Amino acid sequence: MNGESVATDRPARLVVLVSGRGRNLAAIMRAIDDGRLNARIALVASNNRQAPGLQHARLAGIGTVAIDPSIFADRAAFDEAMAKRIAAEAPDWVVLAGYMRILGSAFVQRFAPRLLNIHPSLLPRHKGLHTHKRVLEAGDARHGASVHIVTPELDDGPVIRQASIAVGDDDNADTLADRVMSEIEEALYPAALADLIDGRVICEDDGLYRDGQRQSVPLHEYYDA
Ligand code: GRF
Repeated sequence: MNGESVATDRPARLVVLVSGRGRNLAAIMRAIDDGRLNARIALVASNNRQAPGLQHARLAGIGTVAIDPSIFADRAAFDEAMAKRIAAEAPDWVVLAGYMRILGSAFVQRFAPRLLNIHPSLLPRHKGLHTHKRVLEAGDARHGASVHIVTPELDDGPVIRQASIAVGDDDNADTLADRVMSEIEEALYPAALADLIDGRVICEDDGLYRDGQRQSVPLHEYYDA
């Protein structure tokens, strides 16, 4: 895969990876149905056959696959099986949507830079897990989510878009998680995907370009400023 724009009239082919609930997947499916996203989901894949996200996909007639990591000798072997199944769909973009497994660098390099993730924090702050709790512990005034290109380093690739909300005095980790999902993530992922699919944002070796200009800081929307 390479980073050149593949903006065409044909819908972009997506493979979406989920491990759980699938609210981001559902938001992407709605954006496709509404015509906000010129894409088609070729496959939803999971490391967890109980993932509710797989059920959303099945109900919409989208093909699904679950591959159980426990039957593989190691992470590299599992990654290889998952990568092979994804590659068979010839995706334009591989979309991690709550995929709760660390990816090995062979997997990342196989799909880079057409591998995307959404992370529930204002990267580079709060990489890794438990972001909502950590935002409260740090006393951050704002919190949000970021959509980024995946690189072998965890939660570290170039950020396409992020958006933030003010942390309320009465927020706890659960209310923040819910607000970040419903007020930010469900709109942010489709918008960032549309940037790439429509060719507004291009990933080059030296970083991201938006409308032909180097994007040195991510596009940031303040939802309640
Ligand atoms: C989201 O908060 C996403 O940012 C993070 O995992 C969560 C997945 O939620 N990576 P869902 O499965 O999309 O509902």
